[in-house]
Amino acid sequence: MAALHHRDERGHPPEHWGSSLGFVLAAAGSAVGLGNLWGFAYRASQGGGAAFVVLYLLIVLVVCLPVLVAEMVLGRSTGHAPLLAPITAGGRRWAPLGWLYMAAAIGILSYYAVLMGWTGRTLLHALLDGLPADMAAAEAYFAEISSGGDAVLGHLISLGLTGLVVAAGIRGGIERLSRWGMPLLVLMLLGLVLWAASLPGAHEGYRTFLLRWDAAKLTDAGTIRNAFTQAFFSIGTGIGAILAYAAYLDRRSAIPSEAVAVVGMDTAVGLMAGCVTFPVVASFGLSDVVSGSTVGTLFISLPTGLASLGFNGRLVAAVFFSLAYIAAITSSVSLLEVPTSSLMDRLGWSRDRTVWVMVALIGVLGLPSALDVAVLERMDALFGGVLLISGGLGMALLLGWGVPARFRADLEGSGSRRWLVRGLLWALRWVSPPAIAIGLAVSVADLVR
Ligand code: PHE
Repeated sequence: MAALHHRDERGHPPEHWGSSLGFVLAAAGSAVGLGNLWGFAYRASQGGGAAFVVLYLLIVLVVCLPVLVAEMVLGRSTGHAPLLAPITAGGRRWAPLGWLYMAAAIGILSYYAVLMGWTGRTLLHALLDGLPADMAAAEAYFAEISSGGDAVLGHLISLGLTGLVVAAGIRGGIERLSRWGMPLLVLMLLGLVLWAASLPGAHEGYRTFLLRWDAAKLTDAGTIRNAFTQAFFSIGTGIGAILAYAAYLDRRSAIPSEAVAVVGMDTAVGLMAGCVTFPVVASFGLSDVVSGSTVGTLFISLPTGLASLGFNGRLVAAVFFSLAYIAAITSSVSLLEVPTSSLMDRLGWSRDRTVWVMVALIGVLGLPSALDVAVLERMDALFGGVLLISGGLGMALLLGWGVPARFRADLEGSGSRRWLVRGLLWALRWVSPPAIAIGLAVSVADLVR
């Protein structure tokens, strides 16, 4: 069976990233998404500010980073998509892991595209009609865009755009989008951070977000669950999205530093987004609204706050929701790449055909989430929480305990230092699995409570 980065049986040339930077930007594009802009801020506000941020950073560094390196190694060393990579590396008994990746990616994309639809709709609204005058108007507006025909349309358009990029291929579609999208996004966000710093209540915002320290929150089940879910969802490790990208990687790239770059960008964007939303919320006196934990926080309080600034507020909202849409589409393409490359790999289908079959399937699967926010929230808890974290556990077990020699050989063969490889492998064996198991147990217990 030909791997994705080899010439296939029919002699089609292999696909490849144009450069290591292209891969890093695409992987960072997968990581940076709506999860950073919306999830980070609202989970931090629930989990007691600084305590959440500290737990989050700890989990990212000692649990997620080794798993992300493992995920990249699995993709590159097998040259296979998420469905076949676990079997190629560890044999038939690892087959369920490949199916878990497929199911999780399809499940997440089915509701992620709905969230993208809301984002796009809010952007158009800010540009064309203006912002809602008060909370009541904002809530009515949100109810309108998050259900019925509007939501379905936004979902389908967003999936269609995602399909167009993925159909254009690794280099011509995904890499090209990430190369202009990611720098643009960071620039816009930087501009908004500076603008938010000039708001009258900015300091109060930073205080609730970063400086309010409450040690008791560190052991609170809700905070632990939030920090785990946010870390895994935001980096996007554990469902094969970055694995799918890494299958097109060549032997020269230094995976550990690339993983650090991805994690660094993702965390920086999460913190920067918090430095925009919290000052806005504090300065317009909306803080009690943000802690009401609905998916709609960002779509209700932020536009309402900005409305009082008149034209400038509309401008800020337009910039914010444009960058949110860019962040979202660079993530949704990585989710679609999981089933796409898997079926190309397994069935030998063409890229085009696979993409549109998957878009049709996911379009239908997303309808319940588009029609009912409560369904969307459940989908997120199940696919974006439990399944995603379980996928990360599987990854750590496969590379750490199943085939550690492959992990070592791939990294040392591409020039990584021995002590670094040893340290990563140690974390993958002894730190990640037990930590993830605890996180998973706390999450499930907290969910069913
Ligand atoms: N990390 C993305 C976000 O924060 C979502 C995502 C999850 C992307 C899993 C790929 C895989 O929005």
